[in-house]
Amino acid sequence: MNFSTFKKKIGNLPMVGPCLRKAWRVLHGKPATLPPAPFVREPLDPTAAPAHQQVRQCLNLINYAKAGGKPYSATKYPGGYHSMTIGSVRLAGQRDPEYRLNLAPFNFKGKTVLDIGSNQGGMLLPLGTCLRCGVGVDYDPKMVNVANRIAAVQGCGQLRYYVFDIDREPLELLKDFLPDERADIVFLLSICMWIKNWREVIAFAASIAPALLFESNGTPQQQSEQEQELRRRYARVQLLTGESVDDANQKLRKLFFCDQPVTT
Ligand SMILES: C[S@@+](CC[C@H](N)C(=O)[O-])C[C@H]1O[C@@H](n2cnc3c(N)ncnc32)[C@H](O)[C@@H]1O
Repeated sequence: MNFSTFKKKIGNLPMVGPCLRKAWRVLHGKPATLPPAPFVREPLDPTAAPAHQQVRQCLNLINYAKAGGKPYSATKYPGGYHSMTIGSVRLAGQRDPEYRLNLAPFNFKGKTVLDIGSNQGGMLLPLGTCLRCGVGVDYDPKMVNVANRIAAVQGCGQLRYYVFDIDREPLELLKDFLPDERADIVFLLSICMWIKNWREVIAFAASIAPALLFESNGTPQQQSEQEQELRRRYARVQLLTGESVDDANQKLRKLFFCDQPVTT
Protein backbone atom coordinates (compact mmCIF):
# COMPACT_ATOMS: atom_id res chain seq x y z
CA MET A 1 0.00 0.00 0.00
CA ASN A 2 1.48 3.39 -0.94
CA PHE A 3 1.55 6.39 1.44
CA SER A 4 -1.38 8.23 -0.14
CA THR A 5 -3.67 5.14 0.05
CA PHE A 6 -2.55 4.62 3.66
CA LYS A 7 -3.29 8.31 4.47
CA LYS A 8 -6.72 8.03 2.87
CA LYS A 9 -7.55 4.86 4.80
CA ILE A 10 -6.47 6.39 8.13
CA GLY A 11 -8.32 9.64 7.33
CA ASN A 12 -11.54 7.71 6.71
CA LEU A 13 -11.49 5.88 10.08
CA PRO A 14 -14.47 7.10 12.13
CA MET A 15 -12.74 8.37 15.31
CA VAL A 16 -9.12 8.50 14.22
CA GLY A 17 -9.63 10.62 11.05
CA PRO A 18 -11.33 13.61 12.78
CA CYS A 19 -8.80 13.51 15.68
CA LEU A 20 -5.83 13.55 13.30
CA ARG A 21 -7.33 16.43 11.31
CA LYS A 22 -7.89 18.40 14.52
CA ALA A 23 -4.28 17.79 15.60
CA TRP A 24 -3.10 18.97 12.16
CA ARG A 25 -5.20 22.15 12.47
CA VAL A 26 -3.75 22.94 15.90
CA LEU A 27 -0.18 22.39 14.68
CA HIS A 28 -0.42 24.06 11.28
CA GLY A 29 -3.25 26.57 11.63
CA LYS A 30 -4.97 25.19 8.56
CA PRO A 31 -7.21 22.18 8.03
CA ALA A 32 -5.77 19.05 6.43
CA THR A 33 -7.28 18.01 3.10
CA LEU A 34 -10.40 15.96 3.67
CA PRO A 35 -10.97 12.63 1.96
CA PRO A 36 -13.01 13.33 -1.20
CA ALA A 37 -16.73 12.79 -0.69
CA PRO A 38 -18.38 10.42 -3.17
CA PHE A 39 -20.42 12.23 -5.79
CA VAL A 40 -23.65 10.94 -7.28
CA ARG A 41 -25.68 13.08 -9.66
CA GLU A 42 -29.38 13.05 -8.84
CA PRO A 43 -31.52 12.97 -11.99
CA LEU A 44 -34.21 15.62 -12.36
CA ASP A 45 -37.80 14.71 -11.60
CA PRO A 46 -39.62 15.26 -14.92
CA THR A 47 -42.92 15.78 -13.07
CA ALA A 48 -41.49 18.55 -10.82
CA ALA A 49 -42.04 22.25 -11.53
CA PRO A 50 -39.22 23.89 -13.57
CA ALA A 51 -38.20 25.94 -10.52
CA HIS A 52 -37.64 22.75 -8.52
CA GLN A 53 -35.70 21.19 -11.35
CA GLN A 54 -33.38 24.21 -11.35
CA VAL A 55 -32.83 23.83 -7.61
CA ARG A 56 -31.95 20.17 -8.20
CA GLN A 57 -29.45 21.20 -10.89
CA CYS A 58 -27.82 23.70 -8.52
CA LEU A 59 -27.67 21.06 -5.80
CA ASN A 60 -26.02 18.62 -8.19
CA LEU A 61 -23.39 21.23 -9.02
CA ILE A 62 -22.90 22.15 -5.35
CA ASN A 63 -22.47 18.46 -4.46
CA TYR A 64 -20.01 18.01 -7.29
CA ALA A 65 -17.99 21.04 -6.11
CA LYS A 66 -18.06 19.78 -2.51
CA ALA A 67 -16.80 16.36 -3.60
CA GLY A 68 -13.39 17.96 -4.23
CA GLY A 69 -12.76 17.52 -0.50
CA LYS A 70 -10.90 20.85 -0.14
CA PRO A 71 -10.79 22.30 3.39
CA TYR A 72 -13.29 24.96 2.29
CA SER A 73 -15.61 22.54 0.45
CA ALA A 74 -17.93 22.45 3.48
CA THR A 75 -18.72 18.84 2.63
CA LYS A 76 -21.12 18.23 5.49
CA TYR A 77 -23.39 21.20 4.74
CA PRO A 78 -26.25 20.73 2.24
CA GLY A 79 -25.62 24.19 0.77
CA GLY A 80 -21.81 23.95 0.78
CA TYR A 81 -19.77 26.90 2.08
CA HIS A 82 -22.48 29.58 1.87
CA SER A 83 -26.06 29.34 3.09
CA MET A 84 -28.30 30.46 0.27
CA THR A 85 -31.86 30.58 -0.96
CA ILE A 86 -32.37 29.15 -4.44
CA GLY A 87 -35.88 29.80 -5.70
CA SER A 88 -37.92 29.15 -2.57
CA VAL A 89 -35.54 26.59 -1.09
CA ARG A 90 -33.23 27.58 1.77
CA LEU A 91 -29.99 25.59 1.85
CA ALA A 92 -27.92 25.67 5.03
CA GLY A 93 -24.22 26.23 4.43
CA GLN A 94 -21.17 26.55 6.66
CA ARG A 95 -21.40 30.35 6.68
CA ASP A 96 -24.18 32.87 6.58
CA PRO A 97 -23.22 35.58 4.04
CA GLU A 98 -25.87 38.01 5.30
CA TYR A 99 -24.24 38.06 8.73
CA ARG A 100 -21.02 39.58 7.39
CA LEU A 101 -22.74 41.76 4.79
CA ASN A 102 -25.04 43.28 7.39
CA LEU A 103 -22.06 44.31 9.50
CA ALA A 104 -20.44 46.23 6.63
CA PRO A 105 -21.01 50.02 6.89
CA PHE A 106 -21.40 50.31 3.13
CA ASN A 107 -24.30 51.05 0.79
CA PHE A 108 -24.01 48.50 -2.01
CA LYS A 109 -26.74 49.99 -4.21
CA GLY A 110 -25.46 50.59 -7.74
CA LYS A 111 -21.90 49.65 -6.76
CA THR A 112 -19.24 47.40 -8.32
CA VAL A 113 -17.83 44.68 -6.07
CA LEU A 114 -14.82 42.44 -6.63
CA ASP A 115 -14.89 39.30 -4.45
CA ILE A 116 -11.47 37.64 -4.37
CA GLY A 117 -11.77 33.96 -3.37
CA SER A 118 -15.51 33.88 -4.01
CA ASN A 119 -15.98 30.11 -3.49
CA GLN A 120 -19.52 29.26 -4.65
CA GLY A 121 -20.43 32.92 -4.98
CA GLY A 122 -22.62 33.31 -1.92
CA MET A 123 -21.24 36.66 -0.71
CA LEU A 124 -22.44 38.42 -3.87
CA LEU A 125 -25.75 36.59 -4.27
CA PRO A 126 -27.67 38.38 -1.48
CA LEU A 127 -26.61 41.71 -3.00
CA GLY A 128 -28.02 40.30 -6.23
CA THR A 129 -29.91 42.76 -8.30
CA CYS A 130 -28.95 45.84 -6.23
CA LEU A 131 -25.36 45.96 -7.53
CA ARG A 132 -24.21 47.59 -10.71
CA CYS A 133 -21.78 44.72 -11.16
CA GLY A 134 -20.44 41.89 -9.00
CA VAL A 135 -17.35 39.94 -10.02
CA GLY A 136 -16.12 36.91 -8.11
CA VAL A 137 -12.86 35.10 -8.77
CA ASP A 138 -11.69 31.76 -7.43
CA TYR A 139 -9.15 29.22 -8.55
CA ASP A 140 -11.49 26.28 -8.09
CA PRO A 141 -13.32 25.83 -11.43
CA LYS A 142 -16.06 23.70 -9.87
CA MET A 143 -16.89 26.49 -7.41
CA VAL A 144 -16.94 29.01 -10.26
CA ASN A 145 -19.28 26.79 -12.30
CA VAL A 146 -21.77 26.44 -9.50
CA ALA A 147 -21.62 30.17 -8.69
CA ASN A 148 -22.48 31.08 -12.29
CA ARG A 149 -25.33 28.58 -12.48
CA ILE A 150 -26.89 29.78 -9.21
CA ALA A 151 -26.57 33.43 -10.27
CA ALA A 152 -28.35 32.58 -13.55
CA VAL A 153 -31.13 30.69 -11.78
CA GLN A 154 -31.57 33.64 -9.40
CA GLY A 155 -31.79 36.09 -12.29
CA CYS A 156 -28.69 37.97 -11.12
CA GLY A 157 -27.45 38.99 -14.56
CA GLN A 158 -24.96 41.47 -13.15
CA LEU A 159 -22.98 38.78 -11.31
CA ARG A 160 -20.05 37.08 -13.05
CA TYR A 161 -17.61 34.53 -11.70
CA TYR A 162 -14.25 33.67 -13.23
CA VAL A 163 -11.50 31.14 -12.65
CA PHE A 164 -8.39 32.97 -11.48
CA ASP A 165 -5.45 31.85 -9.35
CA ILE A 166 -4.45 34.77 -7.16
CA ASP A 167 -1.10 33.21 -6.32
CA ARG A 168 -0.03 32.42 -9.87
CA GLU A 169 -1.61 34.92 -12.25
CA PRO A 170 -0.88 38.63 -12.72
CA LEU A 171 -3.03 40.59 -10.27
CA GLU A 172 -3.27 43.48 -12.76
CA LEU A 173 -5.35 41.20 -14.99
CA LEU A 174 -8.17 41.34 -12.44
CA LYS A 175 -8.83 44.89 -13.68
CA ASP A 176 -9.95 43.43 -17.00
CA PHE A 177 -12.84 41.60 -15.34
CA LEU A 178 -14.20 44.94 -14.05
CA PRO A 179 -16.22 47.41 -16.14
CA ASP A 180 -13.92 50.42 -15.55
CA GLU A 181 -10.84 48.64 -14.23
CA ARG A 182 -11.93 49.63 -10.73
CA ALA A 183 -14.35 48.50 -8.05
CA ASP A 184 -16.16 50.44 -5.33
CA ILE A 185 -15.29 47.78 -2.79
CA VAL A 186 -13.17 44.62 -2.71
CA PHE A 187 -14.02 41.57 -0.60
CA LEU A 188 -10.99 39.69 0.73
CA LEU A 189 -12.59 37.26 3.10
CA SER A 190 -10.90 34.32 4.78
CA ILE A 191 -8.41 33.76 2.01
CA CYS A 192 -5.07 35.21 3.15
CA MET A 193 -3.92 32.08 4.98
CA TRP A 194 -4.36 30.12 1.75
CA ILE A 195 -2.21 32.33 -0.47
CA LYS A 196 1.46 33.27 -0.37
CA ASN A 197 1.20 36.74 -1.92
CA TRP A 198 -1.47 38.08 0.45
CA ARG A 199 0.46 41.31 1.13
CA GLU A 200 0.53 42.10 -2.60
CA VAL A 201 -3.17 41.26 -2.85
CA ILE A 202 -4.04 43.73 -0.07
CA ALA A 203 -1.90 46.39 -1.79
CA PHE A 204 -3.62 45.63 -5.08
CA ALA A 205 -7.08 45.91 -3.47
CA ALA A 206 -6.09 49.30 -2.04
CA SER A 207 -5.02 50.44 -5.52
CA ILE A 208 -8.29 49.60 -7.30
CA ALA A 209 -11.03 50.39 -4.77
CA PRO A 210 -11.63 52.95 -2.01
CA ALA A 211 -12.97 50.30 0.38
CA LEU A 212 -12.18 46.78 1.50
CA LEU A 213 -14.21 44.25 3.47
CA PHE A 214 -11.59 41.96 4.98
CA GLU A 215 -11.77 38.83 7.10
CA SER A 216 -8.54 37.59 8.63
CA ASN A 217 -7.88 33.88 8.97
CA GLY A 218 -5.20 31.49 10.14
CA THR A 219 -3.32 31.35 13.44
CA PRO A 220 -3.47 34.35 15.84
CA GLN A 221 0.02 35.30 14.58
CA GLN A 222 -1.09 35.18 10.91
CA GLN A 223 -4.20 37.22 11.67
CA SER A 224 -2.22 39.81 13.56
CA GLU A 225 0.20 40.17 10.61
CA GLN A 226 -2.77 40.55 8.26
CA GLU A 227 -4.23 43.30 10.48
CA GLN A 228 -0.87 45.12 10.55
CA GLU A 229 -0.76 45.03 6.76
CA LEU A 230 -4.28 46.51 6.59
CA ARG A 231 -3.17 49.36 8.87
CA ARG A 232 -0.19 50.00 6.60
CA ARG A 233 -2.37 50.19 3.48
CA TYR A 234 -5.46 52.03 4.78
CA ALA A 235 -5.75 55.15 6.90
CA ARG A 236 -8.97 53.89 8.47
CA VAL A 237 -9.41 50.29 9.63
CA GLN A 238 -12.53 49.46 11.63
CA LEU A 239 -12.90 46.16 13.44
CA LEU A 240 -16.50 45.10 12.75
CA THR A 241 -16.37 41.94 14.83
CA GLY A 242 -13.67 39.92 16.55
CA GLU A 243 -15.48 36.64 15.99
CA SER A 244 -16.89 34.73 13.03
CA VAL A 245 -19.93 33.54 14.96
CA ASP A 246 -21.83 32.55 11.81
CA ASP A 247 -19.39 29.62 11.42
CA ALA A 248 -19.93 26.84 13.94
CA ASN A 249 -16.57 25.31 12.92
CA GLN A 250 -14.31 28.31 13.22
CA LYS A 251 -15.27 31.34 15.27
CA LEU A 252 -11.85 32.94 15.57
CA ARG A 253 -11.68 35.16 12.52
CA LYS A 254 -11.93 38.95 12.55
CA LEU A 255 -13.94 41.11 10.16
CA PHE A 256 -12.65 44.57 9.19
CA PHE A 257 -13.91 47.44 7.07
CA CYS A 258 -11.06 49.47 5.62
CA ASP A 259 -11.21 52.71 3.68
CA GLN A 260 -9.07 55.70 2.80
CA PRO A 261 -6.30 53.70 1.07
CA VAL A 262 -2.85 55.15 1.61
CA THR A 263 -1.28 56.18 -1.68
CA THR A 264 2.48 55.69 -1.76
C1 LIG B 1 -12.34 29.76 3.21
S1 LIG B 1 -12.93 30.03 1.58
C2 LIG B 1 -13.61 31.67 1.75
C3 LIG B 1 -14.73 31.94 0.76
C4 LIG B 1 -15.27 33.36 0.79
N1 LIG B 1 -14.25 34.34 0.54
C5 LIG B 1 -15.95 33.65 2.09
O1 LIG B 1 -15.31 34.12 3.04
O2 LIG B 1 -17.16 33.44 2.18
C6 LIG B 1 -11.40 30.37 0.71
C7 LIG B 1 -11.60 30.47 -0.79
O3 LIG B 1 -10.38 30.92 -1.37
C8 LIG B 1 -10.17 30.22 -2.59
N2 LIG B 1 -8.74 30.23 -2.90
C9 LIG B 1 -7.73 29.64 -2.22
N3 LIG B 1 -6.55 29.83 -2.85
C10 LIG B 1 -6.82 30.58 -3.95
C11 LIG B 1 -6.03 31.10 -5.01
N4 LIG B 1 -4.71 30.88 -5.06
N5 LIG B 1 -6.63 31.82 -5.99
C12 LIG B 1 -7.98 32.02 -5.95
N6 LIG B 1 -8.79 31.54 -4.97
C13 LIG B 1 -8.23 30.83 -3.98
C14 LIG B 1 -10.72 28.84 -2.31
O4 LIG B 1 -11.04 28.12 -3.49
C15 LIG B 1 -11.94 29.15 -1.45
O5 LIG B 1 -13.09 29.28 -2.23
